[in-house]
Amino acid sequence: MGKIIMVASLKGGVGKTTVSAALSHALAKMGQKTLAVDMDFGVRSLDIALGHENSASPSCWDVMTGRASLGVAVESDSREENLFFISAPMNVDCTYDTTLTDRMFTSFLKNVKREYDFVLLDMAAGTGRLLDMASNSGEVDEVLIVCTQNAASVRAAEKLGADLYKTGEEKIRLVINSFVPDRAGKNDFVGVMDITEHSSVTLIGVVPFDKRVEALISSGKTVIEDKRSLAGKALKNIARRLTGESVALFDGAVPRRHRFRLY
Ligand SMILES: Nc1ncnc2c1ncn2[C@@H]1O[C@H](COP(=O)(O)OP(=O)(O)O)[C@@H](O)[C@H]1O
Ligand SMILES: [Mg+2]
Repeated sequence: MGKIIMVASLKGGVGKTTVSAALSHALAKMGQKTLAVDMDFGVRSLDIALGHENSASPSCWDVMTGRASLGVAVESDSREENLFFISAPMNVDCTYDTTLTDRMFTSFLKNVKREYDFVLLDMAAGTGRLLDMASNSGEVDEVLIVCTQNAASVRAAEKLGADLYKTGEEKIRLVINSFVPDRAGKNDFVGVMDITEHSSVTLIGVVPFDKRVEALISSGKTVIEDKRSLAGKALKNIARRLTGESVALFDGAVPRRHRFRLY
């Protein structure tokens, strides 16, 4: 039985799609059969991040509502034999369109869990029916909340963590993305220690800001493909932690000169 990992945040633009694409790729490279699911209905972008934007396959909504089979909708990846992708629908807004029921959603998660070792759900920002359906399904094994280094983003992450704990999610971990060591403690930017001291959500990793990320993503490459990318290294470390390995927090992911300071 596989594991379902939901990647979520209340705020947009913090890096959920970047993190989902990179973790899916890293897990697949590690030999884990991995399905990346775009759950950002309407504003989908995981297809671009994984280089699948030209596909016309049915979406996960089509599969959930019985319009297509999983086998037809899932696309394989040209780079990695263990990596698979399923798109989000473009014109479905689940707030108004109630075709998709809780039962259909749960049954989709149960099915993919049987076929894959890891399933990553790249959620839309904020709360909403899809997030509710996922957390009420009882099938999500772990939630990764993504935040950036500023105080408002951290506060939003804590709020989401508290809300999800209330719904019964037990394993929730925090990814601090776009981290710049030199900014810690300046203006509205916080350090890792500030976050972990005050947060009820356990940290799973810190991903440095990396100016190459944007260009890589728009060319359909994940940061995992760039051997020099510190963000890629940090995300590989998080993937290893997801499989139960113990990996030092900044292992290879923060320049040596920064490593001995406390953030
Ligand atoms: N670690 C990082 N370093 C630099 N830029 C990043 C990093 N993570 C994400 N980005 C950039 O931030 C923007 C938003 O990322 P995205 O993954 O689309 O966020 P979300 O899915 O939360 O809306 C994108 O332009 C992406 O290239
Ligand atoms: Mg996104």
